[in-house]
Amino acid sequence: MSYLRISHVTKSFGANAVLKDVDLDIQDGEFIALVGPSGCGKSTLMRIVAGLEAATSGEIHMDGRIVNDVAPRDRDVAMVFQNYALYPHLTVRDNLAFAMTMRGLPAAEIAKRTVEVATMLGLEELLGRLPKALSGGQRQRVAMGRAIMRKPRLFLFDEPLSNLDAKLRVHMRLEIAQLHKKLKATSIFVTHDQVEAMTMADRIVLLNDGVVQQVGTPKELYDRPANLFVANFIGSPSMTMIRVDGDSTTNQRRALGTVLPPGIPAEARQMGLRPEALRIADAGDGGDGGWRADVVGIEDLGYQSFVFCEMADGTRLSSLTHGSGHVHVGDSVSLQPDFSQAHFFGDTGLRLN
Ligand SMILES: Nc1ncnc2c1ncn2[C@@H]1O[C@H](COP(=O)(O)OP(=O)(O)OP(=O)(O)O)[C@@H](O)[C@H]1O
Ligand SMILES: [Mg+2]
Repeated sequence: MSYLRISHVTKSFGANAVLKDVDLDIQDGEFIALVGPSGCGKSTLMRIVAGLEAATSGEIHMDGRIVNDVAPRDRDVAMVFQNYALYPHLTVRDNLAFAMTMRGLPAAEIAKRTVEVATMLGLEELLGRLPKALSGGQRQRVAMGRAIMRKPRLFLFDEPLSNLDAKLRVHMRLEIAQLHKKLKATSIFVTHDQVEAMTMADRIVLLNDGVVQQVGTPKELYDRPANLFVANFIGSPSMTMIRVDGDSTTNQRRALGTVLPPGIPAEARQMGLRPEALRIADAGDGGDGGWRADVVGIEDLGYQSFVFCEMADGTRLSSLTHGSGHVHVGDSVSLQPDFSQAHFFGDTGLRLN
């Protein structure tokens, strides 16, 4: 069942159209990652769902009810921001309890819920501390705890991990995923981090310039990007884009001089190859049919390396190799494309295959 329906939502600030006909159906219990370049409208969309901002047009439905005119506190939504604000003069316990206390709920109920949430988040030992005596990750966990206290049906996370260091992010990422399994609340998670989006989300929503580009599972966006924008955005390093040329006399299609196998869509103008579809041939292969290029950079991750190459005409190619230390900057290599993994796009930028 769909819990949240964002129906034809637009938002303009003056003449600046920030969201353009955003239409999304989010299922009960789903974990959605909302991604897109800076300024594309992610936070604005979250604020509209939370009720902190009004849509210029369109509707927000929760549980089948239009909530455009429902106040934020009555929407059953909890939002965790990047710059979560804890009350500095209140202990962790009182920070957690704050909202319930303000509502005048019975003290025993508040105390019980506080302990439940603290246990869920591993904050039991910290309940008596003030925020200034907590690490960044602990503070983030308290902020999360405050959101959980109310048992909301919908969680909105706006880049909650971006202030944390790399190790802590990985840790919190796992914690949020586990928390989601326990609470099963519908969640929208805004992130700049592709690994977060790919690993945590049931589905990814990719927004660009206020327009939804594609909605799908991480695998769908990776394997079948709907257009050039998605193809370039998802995956790091990005796919290599190569022009496809047609030969009107032979009817053959070529890329970088290589004849492409038959069956390529006739309207194909660009071909995208992910690094794993470009293999560096061994010296013994002689490089037949491959593309000659010089290695200009290497990102060695130990278990695998990304090798960045440049052809004589300036074309840049990114390749993935297993292991490390096989090639070095300055080496001349031959890159073997695997056309069975190629993505083809037409003039409009839409996917063809
Ligand atoms: N209150 C406001 N008044 C005017 N313009 C605004 C307002 N809030 C946001 N904008 C503009 O709307 C656009 C989208 O902003 P938004 O914060 O939603 O982007 P974002 O995708 O969250 O970006 P980031 O990834 O940098 O957080 C931006 O161009 C921003 O300048
Ligand atoms: Mg934002």
